[in-house]
Amino acid sequence: MQHQKTYHQEIIYLNDKEIIIEGPASPDALASYTFDEGLDAFRLPKEQYAALLEISDLEEGRVIVARNGTHIVGYVTYHYPDPLERWSDNNLPYLLELGAVEIALDYRSGGIAKKLIQLSMEDSFVENYIIITTEYYWHWDLKNTELDVYEYKDLMIRLMASAGFEVFQTNDPEISAHPANTLMARVGKNIKRDQMMEFDKIRFKNRFFF
Ligand SMILES: CC(C)(COP(=O)(O)OP(=O)(O)OC[C@H]1O[C@@H](n2cnc3c(N)ncnc32)[C@H](O)[C@@H]1OP(=O)(O)O)[C@@H](O)C(=O)NCCC(=O)NCCS
Repeated sequence: MQHQKTYHQEIIYLNDKEIIIEGPASPDALASYTFDEGLDAFRLPKEQYAALLEISDLEEGRVIVARNGTHIVGYVTYHYPDPLERWSDNNLPYLLELGAVEIALDYRSGGIAKKLIQLSMEDSFVENYIIITTEYYWHWDLKNTELDVYEYKDLMIRLMASAGFEVFQTNDPEISAHPANTLMARVGKNIKRDQMMEFDKIRFKNRFFF
């Protein structure tokens, strides 16, 4: 598959701050920015910034950022699923994963995450992908949001649904491990029936029919 990436940009305002939402960002552009120290939900900020640079350089990788001037205050990433997870079975070239979305604490609840994910879908090439997102409650910032797991689950479903993601059932043990965990996917308009059937097979592995 020849992955194509078309850059889009939009400006939103948050408490009089001009926030630029843009991407897919090139490795060079990302390297010229600074990375907010508050972006530590998944890894140390330094490590997460390095991961973003790596993802932006992958053929299929996409990094969309929110920046205040040249300072990154939020991001969402897309790449192929981890080889250790079932989602990479058969290496389906059209199956991408939304890896992480994070907004620095001071910039939350202003619509940035929603705009990041929506802008990601403005590139018409994404219509050639099934994009999954695996929502595990142990990745969520329950402490700062003061939400319980079900309220957070609801937040994530609303956030993802705003860009065309839907909840999909699966027998994946990690998703099934807790009722708040959720699999969502956005099925691109160009996805064919046989591609969808391959995805169905991955969602329900080792299923016995009687
Ligand atoms: C989850 C997260 C990305 C949301 O970012 P954000 O920029 O604050 O989200 P938005 O402002 O775009 O809001 C998206 C939706 O969530 C709701 N929301 C955001 N913060 C909320 C809060 N503290 N309480 C209740 N609802 C909230 C918004 O109302 C909106 O829903 P609506 O459109 O129905 O009104 C952010 O909280 C974060 O970075 N958390 C830590 C990392 C994480 O949990 N990532 C997700 C797993 S990969």
